[in-house]
Amino acid sequence: MLSYLLVFTVIVTVETQRIQGEQKDDSCVCKLSSSIWAFPAVRFEKISKQVQTCEENLTEFQKKIKDRNVQMPKIELTLKKIKDRLAPFEYLNTNGLYNALHLQKLTDELDEIYYTARDANKKNPSKETEDILKEVTKAKKDAQNMYKNNVFNLETMKSKLRDLNNRVQTCKTIPEDFRSTCHQRIMSRISSPVVTKLNSVSKSYISGAWGRDAKRDGKERYWEHCLVSGNQHGNTIRLYNSYEDFMASKNYKDEYIASSYSHKNAVQGSGTILYENTVFYQCYGTAEICSFNITTQATKRVQLPGAGIENKFPFCYYSCRDWTDIDLEADQDAVWVIYATEENNGNIVVSRLDQLSLNVTHTWKTRLFKRSVTSTFMVCGVLYATRFVNTYQEEVFYAFDTTTGQEVNTLSLPFEKVSAGIANLNYNPVDRRLYMYNDGYLLAYDTFN
Ligand SMILES: *[C@@H]1O[C@H](CO)[C@@H](O)[C@H](O)[C@H]1NC(C)=O
Ligand SMILES: *[C@@H]1O[C@H](CO)[C@@H](O)[C@H](O)[C@H]1NC(C)=O
Ligand SMILES: *[C@@H]1O[C@H](CO)[C@@H](O)[C@H](O)[C@H]1NC(C)=O
Repeated sequence: MLSYLLVFTVIVTVETQRIQGEQKDDSCVCKLSSSIWAFPAVRFEKISKQVQTCEENLTEFQKKIKDRNVQMPKIELTLKKIKDRLAPFEYLNTNGLYNALHLQKLTDELDEIYYTARDANKKNPSKETEDILKEVTKAKKDAQNMYKNNVFNLETMKSKLRDLNNRVQTCKTIPEDFRSTCHQRIMSRISSPVVTKLNSVSKSYISGAWGRDAKRDGKERYWEHCLVSGNQHGNTIRLYNSYEDFMASKNYKDEYIASSYSHKNAVQGSGTILYENTVFYQCYGTAEICSFNITTQATKRVQLPGAGIENKFPFCYYSCRDWTDIDLEADQDAVWVIYATEENNGNIVVSRLDQLSLNVTHTWKTRLFKRSVTSTFMVCGVLYATRFVNTYQEEVFYAFDTTTGQEVNTLSLPFEKVSAGIANLNYNPVDRRLYMYNDGYLLAYDTFN
């Protein structure tokens, strides 16, 4: 299985990097940059090994995961404390006011993480805990050196903490039920449009979202959601019980998510999805996620700390749509939310939600500036981002794997569109299709691993 996965990776990466062969004597020679291994290969090796080991000894592995799930929140909490500490530092740093005392405090905090990580590693030695321990030890040394030399590089420190944070998140991710269906992780191709249709309301509704209920064992159910009121708000979702009805725009039912489009439970922006007969969306005018369960007609909400709203951090590469600050996505395992925070310098932040309680369970921070992207979607825990090529073409150029915390910037998966602006892209794990709201047109694509 391992070798199979590795071979697959090379093919995908080679294809997306468009490496050319060269004839030499009577053989074909290709030069591969070793950096193409950096993203998926390591991850495949590690996870495949883990899966193989656990297949040999399931209970052992599950116990490890369980213990790790207890340890990780502790490490995470300490990391958060350090980050809070850095806020005043930032002020002091920019004003040249920091002094040895502050650095001493930082060193103390790092000691705290170090002890937590050391305990975790002692109780449950694993590659991850060992690596984290190594990193913390290194960060401690750096802090001591800064103390000695009286230099304080806040950016470097922040970037280190971000990496540590992502790895702690990743450590928490391997679920107890780890036999994921996502063996082949990175997408290799997107088809020509397999559905192209104008929305059923009006061509003037240039922003919104559409798709198919993303829950694996859900009924075949298509939905359409158009934004009104300056392409900003919405309060109904149109549902179809079959593909034929959807294509013919008939036999639909309009469900009310809120009583009006200015109600506090109304929808803001075009990041909406439907998952298990529940609409997930940004709540009206706030940095909160709402879920509206159509079956029970109940609304829940949860705060997204620090999320930029009101066009602070929209998707905005070219021909931008407003009100795209918060983007909901679903894959086979979870509901995800993509946004940006000031704390992460306007770069994309990805959080995983528990879809029933609507709690945020994990948060990763990427280095991808949100305004440099047209739209995003999630497949198998991998975040994909697209960019504008021209009016009729878009391209997936970036991926961030939440199971490794690694990013790759070298993808090139082009796909067609019928108009310049994209208000929403979402992936459906049931039919593995990508759904796009393209200036009032509804398009869908098949995707291939
Ligand atoms: C499986 O677990 C048992 C009990 O913990 C242990 O004795 C055995 O060595 C493990 N086998 C492998 C292949 O890891
Ligand atoms: C919606 O409500 C139904 C009925 O109570 C429940 O079975 C389902 O899990 C709920 N879905 C979500 C996503 O909360
Ligand atoms: C969700 O968060 C609340 C408040 O933090 C907590 O009490 C509850 O146990 C969490 N639920 C789940 C399923 O994690």
